[in-house]
Amino acid sequence: MAAMHQYQLVDSDQTVYRDGTIKLHGPEGFDAMRKAGRLAAEILDACVDLVRPGVTTGQLDDAIRGMMLDAGAVPATLGYRGYAHSSCISINHVICHGIPGDKVLKDGDILNIDVTPLVDGWHGDTSRMFYAGEPSLKAKKLVEVTYECLMLGIAAAQPGARLGDIGAAIEAHANQFRYGVVREFCGHGVGRLFHDAPEVVHAAKAGTGPELKPGMFFTIEPMINLGKPWAKVLGDGWTAVTRDKSLSAQFEHSIAITETGNEIFTKSPTGRDCPPY
Ligand code: MF3
Ligand code: CO
Ligand code: CO
Repeated sequence: MAAMHQYQLVDSDQTVYRDGTIKLHGPEGFDAMRKAGRLAAEILDACVDLVRPGVTTGQLDDAIRGMMLDAGAVPATLGYRGYAHSSCISINHVICHGIPGDKVLKDGDILNIDVTPLVDGWHGDTSRMFYAGEPSLKAKKLVEVTYECLMLGIAAAQPGARLGDIGAAIEAHANQFRYGVVREFCGHGVGRLFHDAPEVVHAAKAGTGPELKPGMFFTIEPMINLGKPWAKVLGDGWTAVTRDKSLSAQFEHSIAITETGNEIFTKSPTGRDCPPY
């Protein structure tokens, strides 16, 4: 039997639940997400000037929390399922959910900073890669191709297309470089809920999954490994690393499906979506 996918038209003031339905938002939801997405992007823009060898991930997290609070927003990750920080900072072979702390950035590190300010109850979820000093050529290539994977996934996110078309586009591009696409973590519906249906897998079969409809809000956040795709979570319960210790990169945007294509809520207002910045 074909899988059923339920859609739900929601107003911006309506209480929403994680009930498995795919929410379809109206103009007020778009406005709210533009605001949350813009702040998230501005915070990552500011990180460009903060990331350098010698800085700790805890210092970056403190700066990020300060920027959110100054803007009247709240870090959505703070207290989320017991997470106690305002960002995730994932260095080198860390795939995602790296916990900020005393770790000092060193020359040649590649790192992902993932931020989600909660603005008037809406989540702007985005992440980018950054370079501390000068990484190796193979590290920079991985980062550039991972950004291309995100943008190819977004290009496939069209009204009338299927959710699986996104993962198919991402995987096809990563395969050309023999990179591994992480399966354990996915993109997700986003809005007034941080993590909602649908699950946006980054390796999928074209033509499968729910139809993409105008008003859907979700993230695309491919995690691409230089080596095998396999991940494991460390004993802290959060930090996900590559099993083969190979480098990993990730970029994330929060987007909407529109009548004519899509809208990226978290684009950098200064064009700094991908290094070199
Ligand atoms: N921002 C992450 C995402 O892209 C989620 C982080 S949840 C946390 O979905 F608790 F680890 F912060
Ligand atoms: Co996300
Ligand atoms: Co995120």
